[in-house]
Amino acid sequence: MSLTVSAPAKVILFGEHAVVHGQPAIAAPVSTLRASATVLNDQGGGLRIRSVDLDQVLPINLDSDLVDSALALTARLVLQRLDATPPNALITLESTIPMASGLGSGAAVSAALARAVAAAVGYDLPQSELNTIVFEIEKTYHGTPSGIDNTVIVYEQPVYFVRGCDIEILPIARPLTLVVADTGAASLTRVAVGDVRHLVESEPQRIQPVLETIGDIARQARTAITSGDVAALGPLMMQNHQHLQTLTVSSPSLDHLVGAAYAAGALGAKLSGGGRGGNMIALVPPDQLHQAETIRRALLTAGATRAFITTVEPANH
Ligand code: MEV
Repeated sequence: MSLTVSAPAKVILFGEHAVVHGQPAIAAPVSTLRASATVLNDQGGGLRIRSVDLDQVLPINLDSDLVDSALALTARLVLQRLDATPPNALITLESTIPMASGLGSGAAVSAALARAVAAAVGYDLPQSELNTIVFEIEKTYHGTPSGIDNTVIVYEQPVYFVRGCDIEILPIARPLTLVVADTGAASLTRVAVGDVRHLVESEPQRIQPVLETIGDIARQARTAITSGDVAALGPLMMQNHQHLQTLTVSSPSLDHLVGAAYAAGALGAKLSGGGRGGNMIALVPPDQLHQAETIRRALLTAGATRAFITTVEPANH
């Protein structure tokens, strides 16, 4: 049997970092960039995972208490959950999502692999269980995540997310066209999240109001998104970006790209994800979609190492 399963990349539209501290945030899948896992059931050899990017084959020893990688932990959690013995299978992982760039590559690889391991033993994991497993892996390997990345990636729907609350799929009234551009600087979300935590702990009186203001921005954005008021989102993105600067998670290149997108006609722009590097997003005016290519080119001219156009569609589009 050969079967391929996958999971998408994501962008955070509003509220990154503040979401770790209990504020709401909004995220959407980017379905054109994906991590995929192909299962080849074979005779003997146990379970092996081949990562095309890392160019290595990892034999998975599930009897060992030492789980030495996110890939091995994913396989183990799925098999434990399904009470299944390791299959004789080769799972090949591939991803078009750039790593350490704020687009959710780690969670997407975990989600695709978990789906593949379940498929190799003949199961289709319910999304809520898959989400729990991917969150476990995020917690083990990425510090203190809020859970927004695994949720938007597993459900592959736009979400309004509050840590610890039920998942709310966001009904989008009008499609949102975005340009996503990469600073080319790899950045680990875990480090930025840790630094913001230190800032909150050391200067609560200055930082707590910033987190609350970001939460207010996310709530206003939710109203604008669900009522189709796309124009209102531009200023909210710019404000959100400024508050992320105060949280020290922007960078000169992110600020430069945000300015370039705005100058080229974007309604608004901001960093997206962990920040310090990685990607930013720019919102294209809905009545001037031809501007998307102008903004994309302006971002490349301003130094982005790659830039692409994507549309956030209503759920179940
Ligand atoms: C990363 O995509 C979003 C952060 O808020 C971290 C998290 O919520 O786990 C920076």
